[in-house]
Amino acid sequence: MKGHVPTPPDLAEHIVKGLFEDAPPHENDRILYPGAGTAPFAAAVERICRQEDWPVPNGYGVELDPKYLAEARERDLSHVEFDERDYLVEEMLEEDEFEYIVGNPPYVPIEELDDDEKTRYKSLFETATGRFDLYLLFFEQSLELLAPGGRLSFITPEKFEYVDTAAPLRRLLTNGGVQVDAIEHVAEDAFDGLVTFPCVTTLQRDPVDEDTETHVTLRDGTTHTTTLPADGESWAASIRGADLSGMETGATLGDVTVRISPGMATGADSLFVCDRDEVPPQLKPEWVYPTVSGSELTTFDGPRTDSVFICPYREDGSLPGEDELGAFRDWASLHREELEDRSCVQKQGEAWYGWHETPPMEDLLQPKIVFKDIAKEPRFWAEREGDVVPRHTVYYLIPQEGVPFDDLLKYLNSPKARAWIEANCQKAANGFLRLQSRVLEDLPVPKKWAETYQATL
Ligand SMILES: C[S@@+](CC[C@H](N)C(=O)[O-])C[C@H]1O[C@@H](n2cnc3c(N)ncnc32)[C@H](O)[C@@H]1O
Repeated sequence: MKGHVPTPPDLAEHIVKGLFEDAPPHENDRILYPGAGTAPFAAAVERICRQEDWPVPNGYGVELDPKYLAEARERDLSHVEFDERDYLVEEMLEEDEFEYIVGNPPYVPIEELDDDEKTRYKSLFETATGRFDLYLLFFEQSLELLAPGGRLSFITPEKFEYVDTAAPLRRLLTNGGVQVDAIEHVAEDAFDGLVTFPCVTTLQRDPVDEDTETHVTLRDGTTHTTTLPADGESWAASIRGADLSGMETGATLGDVTVRISPGMATGADSLFVCDRDEVPPQLKPEWVYPTVSGSELTTFDGPRTDSVFICPYREDGSLPGEDELGAFRDWASLHREELEDRSCVQKQGEAWYGWHETPPMEDLLQPKIVFKDIAKEPRFWAEREGDVVPRHTVYYLIPQEGVPFDDLLKYLNSPKARAWIEANCQKAANGFLRLQSRVLEDLPVPKKWAETYQATL
């Protein structure tokens, strides 16, 4: 069944305590368990209400999978009735509203949905846009079912705080009628063997008080309060709490660079990349460029390495015809079968001796700043000679003319820029960051650089 990741009992109890904090249940309140699974939340609610001597709300659990439902029913919980039904259907809205909703909605990416499901969800949910995930839809459906003044706590991946796909959900959670009271980042290993970067979101519908602050707890235990941006923008900077407020300058890295792009994918690096000493002599120097991979940037502490690319492209980026290839052709012919087997040749009709993508050589062969695509800590190196053709695991940026190269490099490696990058970039496993160009383009930079560049135009 889709997206079954059971919540450990202690974690369920922790989440329910947060749900009832400052808002314990009253007689005849109702509580909803969407995607109830084997009912760890319902069990936690009974335990906590008994301990605290609170009335147990009337519970309703909805679960698609009969196997988990059977286990849930076997628990003999006294306050809850379970139904085998789909939570993501319009008929669900015919239910009365609930004072509490709590759960661990399914994390099911769009790739695991069939075409009918995708079409149905897109017609029903505002949050079903782009590469959506079912937990976004569970949030939206639940907001409809939450009574005025009611509270909801969900544990989900933290990604919805910043990915583009979740912008509609962020809008729903901030544009009036909803107050996100707390966001707590939970330990990476909270779910056995799964890296999900979980977070617990607790919110209230139509809150009575005017407090618009969100209490944030990060994985290192630090806490702060913040006001979440209300326009669907990423919440990363507000939530990660870095003091980035003074950084907005009106100019961004995108404004002062010609391009920020990943290096080249060949589809056959095992052939096109080799040690400088191993290059067949007849290929030198015409068909050879220095290169660097992400891991080599660390090993060599910069872009000067022992590896080279064997490259069929001219300095203007054009690919010579087969009869103009000379020594390159003799070399490539030895590997023709392997080269022809690549998807770029089979599916995209690229020349058998070309790369997976055409290198923008005129941009590439310029002084540039290089950095790893995935890094524990962001770090930037200069490639001043302008002859290195980076591999796909290295990003490169080319400053606009007039932008001071060394100042830009120093700024990118400064604690301030690093704090912004850490706050805004997507997280990969084990605390690594993905330094994507579309995020870095928004890094604020000193305004004078944009002006210098404008002045040179
Ligand atoms: C992440 S699991 C959590 C289960 C349980 N709440 C827990 O914490 O252990 C999500 C549950 O949602 C159920 N589910 C998935 N899609 C559903 C849908 N459309 N309607 C109802 N339940 C669904 C799955 O079968 C799974 O049991």
